[in-house]
Amino acid sequence: MKIAIDGPAGAGKSTVARRLAQELGFVYIDTGAMYRVLTWKALQKKVDPENAEALYELANSIKIHFEYHSGQQKVICDGEDLTAAVRLPEVSAMVSTVASHPAIRKIMVEQQQEMAHNISVVMDGRDIGECVLPDAEYKFFLTASLEERTHRRAAELDSSGFTIDYETILHDITQRDKRDSEREVGSLKILAESIVIDSSNLSIEQVLQKMLAIIREE
Ligand code: DC
Repeated sequence: MKIAIDGPAGAGKSTVARRLAQELGFVYIDTGAMYRVLTWKALQKKVDPENAEALYELANSIKIHFEYHSGQQKVICDGEDLTAAVRLPEVSAMVSTVASHPAIRKIMVEQQQEMAHNISVVMDGRDIGECVLPDAEYKFFLTASLEERTHRRAAELDSSGFTIDYETILHDITQRDKRDSEREVGSLKILAESIVIDSSNLSIEQVLQKMLAIIREE
């Protein structure tokens, strides 16, 4: 079985997806982490995020995979654990520009489809229901108000030791959502078959129970 969870930044997708996968005994794949790894590598190698050709070369030269240690997912690139590095604010600020290039998306989508081949997965991202797993049995679109998403991102950054003011985070999320929604390929959108869940007034546990009820109902 394949379950897709798409939605804007800060809607709680990764936490819910991880929990849902645990409950169902499926593998969780965080596709955003893959675009983040490429962005981190581009920052390190001083590759311009607008330069599609250089990014394409970089994307083809690296190997990304996931490892699971006592329930925690680690993103590994060429043997290096980048799980913490990919969450840095400078990566978040640049990642949607890197993810906007169709050639880059093609590489990522192919790798994601390979990872999901023949196994039951919960995958979260922006284009999972449309491009990566078009045949997914369930396509959730998880959203929340901009204000709530900004608060959640601020709390998440705070717990990782970054104190960034509310306005800066609001600006970053707004810009990222705009770029993710307006790009030509694999844009963030609600599909005809999407099951939309607004988590503004719901806890992670409530969202999880809602999804499980929908899945178990059938
Ligand atoms: O889910 P996230 O915030 O970690 O995603 C980081 C960025 O990666 C997001 O701004 C857009 C991009 N992304 C994408 O374009 N397609 C995906 N399937 C997942 C993420």
